[in-house]
Amino acid sequence: MSQSRETELDVLNTDVTHAYGIDVPIIQDGMGPFSTAAVAAAVSTAGGLGSLSNPGMSITVDEGLATLRLEIERCASLTSGPFALNVPFGRLDSGEILPLTEAYIELAFEMRNADAALAKQFVGITTSAGFPGDYSKRIRDEGLIHAHKVGSVRHAEKAAATGVDFVIASGYEMGGHTHSMPVHTFVLAASVLAEVDIPVIVSGGVFNGCGLAGALGMGACGVAMGTRFIATRENDWHEAYKQKIVNSPEGGDVVFPGFYGPARGLDTPAVEELAALVGTGEMDLVAMARWKEERMVRAMRDGDMDSGLVPAGQCASGIKSVESVQEILDGMVRRAEELLRHASSMISSPRTTHVRVGCPAPSNGRK
Ligand SMILES: Cc1cc2nc3c(=O)[nH]c(=O)nc-3n(C[C@H](O)[C@H](O)[C@H](O)COP(=O)(O)O)c2cc1C
Repeated sequence: MSQSRETELDVLNTDVTHAYGIDVPIIQDGMGPFSTAAVAAAVSTAGGLGSLSNPGMSITVDEGLATLRLEIERCASLTSGPFALNVPFGRLDSGEILPLTEAYIELAFEMRNADAALAKQFVGITTSAGFPGDYSKRIRDEGLIHAHKVGSVRHAEKAAATGVDFVIASGYEMGGHTHSMPVHTFVLAASVLAEVDIPVIVSGGVFNGCGLAGALGMGACGVAMGTRFIATRENDWHEAYKQKIVNSPEGGDVVFPGFYGPARGLDTPAVEELAALVGTGEMDLVAMARWKEERMVRAMRDGDMDSGLVPAGQCASGIKSVESVQEILDGMVRRAEELLRHASSMISSPRTTHVRVGCPAPSNGRK
């Protein structure tokens, strides 16, 4: 981890920092199906929580397990900080959990149980997509922190009732799989905070200190981000993917059919290709899932911005440069402290004429 950070504001020492043993309440959330070991390790080293991603839902169980094992080993070898694993919970029509979902979670248990040093570092599992049901208790019984990502108050209440440690309220503007009901982050987070009494992490559209201050100011205990961490020096995805984010204009994002529902990404010719394929109805679900994952890997690994699918959030238009993970975390915390201190001064001295602090102008270097 980074040198222990003396946080000046108590609001930055939250349930998230205490539970995961991290310095700042910032999480890099899972971004499958390509590797996130390098960026996860960088986030964990910089004082946040990095997350590994599922290596795919359309590959064979053997292939998935071999890849995930390498990812976990690689992340542990690159950082001494704590990290987590994201596993989307897919279910078959019968209601049974997808074999790959189950296999990924069981591998996590097995690797931690076989290696005490790894278990100290590998501290959490984040679930998403479907509801994890009984697995929530199993995850916690294994000594892992369980955070579950939701897109509605109803799902947040259901997760809270099973005893999850955190809910991640992730609004419709998020990158990757978004939700069938388009509730945006500002509304979702405020509603979830009002309705559940477990700690809430805000996600979807957070990319700078303004978002962090907003989340903490609302009463959340941290933020989880995806898109911002793609455009980092440490992320080993293709440079063209990072530049596509940096150059994304406002309105450059689109929603296309994902695996479990809609997914958000940047517009490329592949999105139209996908729409045409869906229209023909010729591919079955498995073939379609394979096509989509293969097209995502083409963009992530090979930088193909024509035939590749490029999942990313609406906040891509606010991201102006590729930066180091440490610069992003430090800048976000500095800016959030500034904004929260200013907000607090407005309450303690209401008659003062306040200078507008506002949110960052991308050109002035503030986050
Ligand atoms: C390229 C990409 C891939 C993603 N893959 C996953 C995934 O495998 N599982 C998951 O739960 N969320 C996935 N997400 C969503 C992120 O975990 C996170 O919730 C989201 O990026 C937050 O919104 P933001 O992009 O505005 O920061 C993905 C997001 C992106 C951008």
